Amino acid sequence: MNNDSEHVRPLAPATILPVSDESASNTRNNTLRRRKRMKCLICGTVTSLILLTIVLTLVFTVFRVKDPTIKMNRVMVNGLDSVIGTDRVQLLGTNISMIVDVSVKNPNMASFKYSNTTTDIYYKGTVVGEARGLPGKAKPRRTSRMNLTVDIMIDRMLADPGLSREVSTSGLVNVRSYTRVGGKVKILFVKKHVTVTMNCTMAVNITAQAIQDVDCKNKIGL
Ligand SMILES: *[C@@H]1O[C@H](CO)[C@@H](O)[C@H](O)[C@H]1NC(C)=O
Ligand SMILES: *[C@@H]1O[C@H](CO)[C@@H](O)[C@H](O)[C@H]1NC(C)=O
Ligand SMILES: *[C@@H]1O[C@H](CO)[C@@H](O)[C@H](O)[C@H]1NC(C)=O
Ligand SMILES: *[C@@H]1O[C@H](CO)[C@@H](O)[C@H](O)[C@H]1NC(C)=O
Ligand SMILES: *[C@@H]1O[C@H](CO)[C@@H](O)[C@H](O)[C@H]1NC(C)=O
Repeated sequence: MNNDSEHVRPLAPATILPVSDESASNTRNNTLRRRKRMKCLICGTVTSLILLTIVLTLVFTVFRVKDPTIKMNRVMVNGLDSVIGTDRVQLLGTNISMIVDVSVKNPNMASFKYSNTTTDIYYKGTVVGEARGLPGKAKPRRTSRMNLTVDIMIDRMLADPGLSREVSTSGLVNVRSYTRVGGKVKILFVKKHVTVTMNCTMAVNITAQAIQDVDCKNKIGL
């Protein structure tokens, strides 16, 4: 309330109605009205503050977007049997694929919809296989699972002279995988993009035709 209006208002009706009694009651009425308005203002402010506190509490608890996590459950190799005992020339015509079983755990109260899932397999820094997953979603507080099939470009692996030495000395081929799941979590009106990545190292045991020594590291980028 500023002082100017307090001084101006009682004067305004006084110039129209010269009766001093009415002018006095008007002033009293104005004071009452002003008090009432002040009460409303305080009431409104307190209510707004309470609502704001509730909303902020919800935003930082229930509606806070938490990081989903990805996990590599299993890796399988297909077609490896055709490699054993064959020479380099025959290898060029074989198809080896790796099936990467990945689960996405969503800790949020809302669905995590992902559209961009990829897994790359590296052999000594060179991409030897790429897979793109289908779009999907992890329901609130649930885990969704998917299989990504990576076709291995064996010619790229054979281009590395170290491969045959690795196979003959240890019977193991060390590869690295890079998995990336990108999507969004929408809680009420808040939409948040989340990308989770995972790097794993593993060894392909040639004689067992299986994967062993899997070691993964996760990173989340909001
Ligand atoms: C490998 O896969 C390609 C198609 O992706 C196919 O044309 C070819 O015949 C396959 N080779 C073998 C040895 O299975
Ligand atoms: C999917 O991710 C790749 C990088 O891994 C990026 O280049 C591409 O633009 C993304 N696609 C969509 C639809 O987000
Ligand atoms: C992934 O593949 C494995 C083995 O082939 C199978 O048991 C599993 O049900 C598959 N998972 C999904 C989500 O398709
Ligand atoms: C490969 O797997 C076989 C059978 O599981 C195992 O006996 C052998 O020790 C493994 N090789 C290496 C180098 O770990
Ligand atoms: C995975 O490896 C890439 C390089 O290929 C690196 O940029 C990224 O930070 C690594 N991520 C994790 C979680 O280690």
